[in-house]
Amino acid sequence: MQIDRSSKMTRMQKSITAYFWLRLLALGFIIHGCKAESSRQNTEKTPEKKSIKSGQEWYDTDGKLIQAHGGGMLYHEGVYYWYGENKDTDTKFPRLRTDIIGINCYSSTDFYNWKNEDIVLPAVKDDPGSALYPQNVLERPKVIFNDKTGKFIMWFHVDDSLYQKAHVGIAVSDSPKGPFIFKESFRPLGFESRDMTVFKDDDSKAYLVFGSGWHNKIVIAELSEDYLSLNGSYTTHLHTDGPPLGREAPALFKRKGKYYLITSGTTGWFTNPAQCDVAENINGPYKTIGNPCEGMYAEVTFLGQSTHVQKIQGKEDAFVFMADRWIPTDLKNSRYLWLPVQFNKNNEPVLKWINEWDMDSYK
Ligand code: DGJ
Repeated sequence: MQIDRSSKMTRMQKSITAYFWLRLLALGFIIHGCKAESSRQNTEKTPEKKSIKSGQEWYDTDGKLIQAHGGGMLYHEGVYYWYGENKDTDTKFPRLRTDIIGINCYSSTDFYNWKNEDIVLPAVKDDPGSALYPQNVLERPKVIFNDKTGKFIMWFHVDDSLYQKAHVGIAVSDSPKGPFIFKESFRPLGFESRDMTVFKDDDSKAYLVFGSGWHNKIVIAELSEDYLSLNGSYTTHLHTDGPPLGREAPALFKRKGKYYLITSGTTGWFTNPAQCDVAENINGPYKTIGNPCEGMYAEVTFLGQSTHVQKIQGKEDAFVFMADRWIPTDLKNSRYLWLPVQFNKNNEPVLKWINEWDMDSYK
């Protein structure tokens, strides 16, 4: 007798999906509760900070709530630049989405105090045909510097409101503080592209890392020398049957010659377990290490979703895991989780919840 594996898988996937959604919906309410609690906080001009406290409301040096969701970071000439989605508008129901306002940039020399450098890539309000028209989607901006051309190149996810377009976009600037000029959006090498990041290697080669086909695989595609297109070379990794077990929210970093790829599962704005994969070569093969999180709420990534891992300058072995704690019903109030990446004796990344930490936390 032949077993109909496809329909069996579908039923199994359906029940996993239902389980995840129920569980994650409950967590959504917990997060929403935290928000109601802390929105009563004082919003006067922020006193100088000397540490990172994840999960709380974060204010810039002017005392305004930081809007840099799905963010990435660039270190350039002594300054950290944090780029992220400005979601400072109401969440649209029932699809849990905010209109595009633009990409924000914040700068800091100490990693604790962030100055608002304003919107560096604004929405295009007067052209319904523009990829940056407010009713579209603009997510997960990442900026890299091209040493040869002296340009700052931003890559990001652009989509229509139903996430069917699945494009990456490119914008260019002469300064890390913008303005970034939008160039184009497209499906990279013909692949659907949704959550993404870019990674610049020590040899200055750079790569676009993106979830494709509703995140049933992660594609790593090499950029051209000017970082403005793809050179055609790519590999595919982390193949799955798709949501909720597909991989998204990629964050790639390199330590001691090894490449670590942290991803989340695919459950919309709701939390799920992170996964870390490691490879000797950027193009793989990637070997799954498992969930790098340890302790309470490890199985839901401390109620967060990966977005970037930042190397700290001037420290031997210091990396920061950056994640978003989404509040699906109120996305503009979503929080940031930044945790030091620790490594176990097998050189595997470990993430532990720490209420408050600073650069002295690194040995
Ligand atoms: C999860 C992604 O990681 C986010 O960037 C965003 O696209 C949401 N899904 C939308 O549901």
